[in-house]
Amino acid sequence: MNQNGNKTNVPPVWLYALLTTFRNFLKKLYFKMVPPGVAVFEKATSIWMSKALGVACELNLADMIGDGEMSIDELARKSGTNPVALYRMMRLLAGECVFRETGDRVFANTRMSKAMMEGDNSIKQIIMQHVSEVNFDLANVMEKSVRTGKNMAFDELGMDVFTYLETHPEKNELYNKAMSNTSQMLGTALLSAYHFKNIKTLVDLGGGEGTLLFQILQKYKDMKGIVFDFPHVVKTARETARRFGVEDRIQVEEGNFFEKMPPGDAYLLKNVLHIFDDDRSIKLLKNIYKSMPAKGKVLIVEAVIKSDNKPALGKIIDMQMLIGTETGRERTEKEYKALVEAAGFTFRKAVHTVSPFGIIEAIKN
Ligand SMILES: C[S@@+](CC[C@H](N)C(=O)[O-])C[C@H]1O[C@@H](n2cnc3c(N)ncnc32)[C@H](O)[C@@H]1O
Repeated sequence: MNQNGNKTNVPPVWLYALLTTFRNFLKKLYFKMVPPGVAVFEKATSIWMSKALGVACELNLADMIGDGEMSIDELARKSGTNPVALYRMMRLLAGECVFRETGDRVFANTRMSKAMMEGDNSIKQIIMQHVSEVNFDLANVMEKSVRTGKNMAFDELGMDVFTYLETHPEKNELYNKAMSNTSQMLGTALLSAYHFKNIKTLVDLGGGEGTLLFQILQKYKDMKGIVFDFPHVVKTARETARRFGVEDRIQVEEGNFFEKMPPGDAYLLKNVLHIFDDDRSIKLLKNIYKSMPAKGKVLIVEAVIKSDNKPALGKIIDMQMLIGTETGRERTEKEYKALVEAAGFTFRKAVHTVSPFGIIEAIKN
């Protein structure tokens, strides 16, 4: 759902699952047929593709091209870049269907490059945040994390990642917008896969700017919402709620959820438990348990990892959690079940969506 309340179409979950299986099958076949060194080397070079995507976003190239076509000379003039170098980067991206070379050194957007344009359903900031200097610095010390099992945020940033964001306003702004991008991207997939029925007040804990909560409120007109996060994060939440037209049904609360907890009959935790180890996660879940009435629900939205030896976004993000968060990790469905049960909840179900994210539902009996 976008800020104007327009629905974005998503394919059914079964089709998404089928396409993913088919893609994995073709990938496996390819890896079996080509010389192994070639296949592994190709993977190692993906760092250049990641950075090229980030640079395209920083330079606003998709916005500049818009709905038409643009020669590389004009694009270079507009973006203040070197035309020869820009062409080399654009042909790399076009090879992966991000932009399309429609004529000699003339480019147009594709559905993928359009996703990098500003506006509804944009993923521009999450790409920029993903390939930011901070993330590259952290990636550079992956070996240390793998050797020691410890996160490197303190060594690299001098503090934990959330204190770092609090003290670096520009990075905080990009991070919050980046998280909102993922919530916007996920909103339709989540709303088509899960019914948020019979919820009076939904509390979005660690809810960032509230983008996911506000999409849910847009659809469920009788529901009220509370977005809760640190003060430097929720300061844009009210304005975001206005853009979604739900400002009269929301409360914005700030603080540390290990110290205070707003009351509600359902709690949403999107990409929150993955920043904590089991002890901290259980502590948080127990605090939620105490604050809700009987039959209250907790909804955990994460890139749930399957034990199937297949490629998955969760396994990639898990590296970021290992190195960049204090004690975070991605988990399997079984591990989430153990977490909610340790806090007193009854595990109800895991719901798959048309995205790498799933929803774990647990209730208080
Ligand atoms: C990975 S982000 C997810 C944000 C949002 N749920 C989303 O998916 O767009 C984790 C969020 O948890 C918040 N957070 C972390 N520790 C917190 C704490 N102790 N109290 C309140 N919020 C916290 C962070 O500020 C951040 O916004």
